[in-house]
Amino acid sequence: MRLAGKIAVVTGAGNGIGGAIAAVFAAEGAHVYVTDVDGAAAEAAAAALRAQQLQASALTVDVTRGQDVTHLMRTLAGAHGRIDVLVNNAGLNILSDFRNMTDADWVRIREVNLDGVMRIARDGFDLLRASGKGSLINVASVMGNRGLRPLAAYSATKGAVAALTRGLAVEYAPFHIRVNTLAPGYAETKLTQRALKLPQFRQALIDKTPMRRFGLPEEMAKAALFLASDDASYVTGAELAVDGGMSAAL
Ligand SMILES: NC(=O)c1ccc[n+]([C@@H]2O[C@H](COP(=O)([O-])OP(=O)(O)OC[C@H]3O[C@@H](n4cnc5c(N)ncnc54)[C@H](O)[C@@H]3O)[C@@H](O)[C@H]2O)c1
Repeated sequence: MRLAGKIAVVTGAGNGIGGAIAAVFAAEGAHVYVTDVDGAAAEAAAAALRAQQLQASALTVDVTRGQDVTHLMRTLAGAHGRIDVLVNNAGLNILSDFRNMTDADWVRIREVNLDGVMRIARDGFDLLRASGKGSLINVASVMGNRGLRPLAAYSATKGAVAALTRGLAVEYAPFHIRVNTLAPGYAETKLTQRALKLPQFRQALIDKTPMRRFGLPEEMAKAALFLASDDASYVTGAELAVDGGMSAAL
């Protein structure tokens, strides 16, 4: 049990990669707070874990709403006085060629993917410090380092998350908080289902992936487990690609 006794919080954990991260953390002994803007999805995911005798609680948290994040941190402060592992996973994408993108779509992508990470990383600092061994994991993307139409805005937010992670790793290290980026390649989730239904887009991504397949959310979650655990005790400021070799290829 690599996270026995740990308190973990995962944003956007009602579905997809965040749901898999919550499940792997709970199976490794953590008490996981499954949070999501979709409160019903968070509750269903937490209930499924409790049905397996694992420790999970659900909270409705929209990472773009300061009062939700304040409520999350107050709840954790009251219940445990600390957070050992905090995963910034909530994210979204709006497929649009950049030249046609509306201001509203740009702001929406940025608010969730970047401002949300900022808010959780800032407001979670005191509780991570109280852990004495905190791990903050920011989920970016292989697209943070690559260009692909029509993902320019999404790529910009994910590249910024990786840059923010490096800055936070330096600032938070004296407080015994490690900060790392998890950079997934493609996995089939709600986020990607629309794009991956387009046969040409789908094939183009497979062609760009040396392992010639998409990843599974569980494969992303196992890499998050490494970053969360004491196995990564000397790892901070890193970007861990879990992408079947996509970021290594020309
Ligand atoms: N699926 C992929 O191929 C892939 C690749 C690289 C990176 N990622 C990143 O992984 C993360 C998870 O993506 P996924 O594929 O599991 O997507 P998903 O759509 O299956 O899950 C995302 C979750 O985030 C929640 N969410 C959306 N806006 C939110 C908000 N404002 N506050 C709180 N929660 C919110 C959604 O309700 C959903 O449950 C995202 O950051 C995404 O950018 C995914």
